[in-house]
Amino acid sequence: MTVWRGAALTLLAALHLPVAALSLVFACGFGKDESRRTLAKLRDLVRDIRPPVPTGRGLADAVRALALEMVVDIDVDVDLPGRCPPAVEAAAYVATRELITNAIRHAAAETIRVEIGHRQRSLQIVVTDDGGGGADESRGSGLVGIRRRLGTVGGTLHLSSPPGGPTRATMEIPCALSAPTTPFYPETA
Ligand SMILES: Nc1ncnc2c1ncn2[C@@H]1O[C@H](COP(=O)(O)OP(=O)(O)OP(=O)(O)O)[C@@H](O)[C@H]1O
Ligand SMILES: [Mg+2]
Repeated sequence: MTVWRGAALTLLAALHLPVAALSLVFACGFGKDESRRTLAKLRDLVRDIRPPVPTGRGLADAVRALALEMVVDIDVDVDLPGRCPPAVEAAAYVATRELITNAIRHAAAETIRVEIGHRQRSLQIVVTDDGGGGADESRGSGLVGIRRRLGTVGGTLHLSSPPGGPTRATMEIPCALSAPTTPFYPETA
């Protein structure tokens, strides 16, 4: 068994993915290129699985908790007086996580900022980093995946990442707010 197949199987086992996903791994050959393609498919599959957005906490607190887990300081600024539907929160959470991961992996940013708000009947999330810019959707599947996932809930991604930076990703998803929730991580003065 190649290292690639082993890694894929470990990933699947950890995620308790269904038999159909396992068959994807076994269906592939032993070649490195084929294994790479299989891993890319698996990554897409994992992205499509409903993410763990705790329904009791809501998007803002889920993003705050995510930010605390990251290796760099991330400012999270929230002005969201209610909840969006679960599908919208889930899509927004996964997309925000990918953008934060990109900023850490690719931008060598010193500052990452996430702004979450609700304007003109849309959830708006802006992720900004002060890294070197140059984000290019043709070089990976993460940004394309964000567009696809946001599209399923009528949302959009606008990406600005000129050479030299900064990178600013603006996501908008139409949504009506329902009753607010009590913050799990209260704002401090
Ligand atoms: N915040 C950023 N700053 C600078 N470059 C970025 C940033 N985000 C993305 N990039 C560049 O754009 C490319 C595409 O990003 P994308 O997220 O689509 O793929 P990826 O992160 O390389 O791989 P993956 O498919 O695992 O997400 C990256 O390879 C990187 O070169
Ligand atoms: Mg990425």
